[in-house]
Amino acid sequence: MTAAIEDSPTKVGAVPSFTVTMRVMRYLPSDEGGETVAHWDDFQVKVHGTDRVLDALHMIKWEQDGSLTFRRSCAHGVCGSDAMRINGRNRLACKTLLKDLDITKPITVEPIKGLPVVKDLVVDMEPFFASYREIMPFLVTTGHEPTKERLQSAEQRARFDDTTKCILCASCTSSCPVFWTDGQYFGPAAIVNAHRFIFDSRDEGGAQRLEILNDKEGVWRCRTTFNCTEACPRGIEVTKAIQEVKRAMITRAF
Ligand code: SF4
Ligand code: F3S
Ligand code: FES
Repeated sequence: MTAAIEDSPTKVGAVPSFTVTMRVMRYLPSDEGGETVAHWDDFQVKVHGTDRVLDALHMIKWEQDGSLTFRRSCAHGVCGSDAMRINGRNRLACKTLLKDLDITKPITVEPIKGLPVVKDLVVDMEPFFASYREIMPFLVTTGHEPTKERLQSAEQRARFDDTTKCILCASCTSSCPVFWTDGQYFGPAAIVNAHRFIFDSRDEGGAQRLEILNDKEGVWRCRTTFNCTEACPRGIEVTKAIQEVKRAMITRAF
């Protein structure tokens, strides 16, 4: 099948348009209890070089097949709701420009792996958020409420700056081979969010979080594969954060 045919003559200053083939994994739960088989559907979409994968999915949904189902909210890389496997790699559809992909071939779009598919590109995020909730992703303090702001130096703040950037998109966890084979593993996103509080000088729940992650499904399951770091759309050094949590578990220094 031909993809990427230049459709419009390029005028000076005009953005050329192309027709690309979007090859989308479809999955419809069966109403009648019969077996449901996932399959690929191809769509020809006329796009511009500045369009993103999310724009192409919108064009399909709005102009060709209204039943195509996917999640998105902000469309600007902030909410983390449109992580999907694009050409075999986890990415945010709203941050993936078509011109950065090989548009001479069909562009494959699948749901992220390791989480149950609800419909088409939508997965059930509950197991992911269950792990997130377990690591207590909130400030833990004891004693009386302070009467003024809890102060922190710039150096103390810098200690966990990287892991504050997480948008809970699940790109990391769903790219981890350990998570694919053992869905009970906490996964990198939960550990990143534990890191964010463990190394916060104002927090007093670090020891408790380390205890939670010292579980057989906790940080020791990580095999330092680095898929998570490569997948993170926020550029977080996920594997490094996991290593720091492992080290804190051994030294109890955080
Ligand atoms: Fe997404 Fe990165 Fe957070 Fe993982 S660490 S959930 S990839 S933002
Ligand atoms: Fe998985 Fe990342 Fe560790 S991909 S094995 S959590 S380094
Ligand atoms: Fe919000 Fe992509 S739609 S991050």
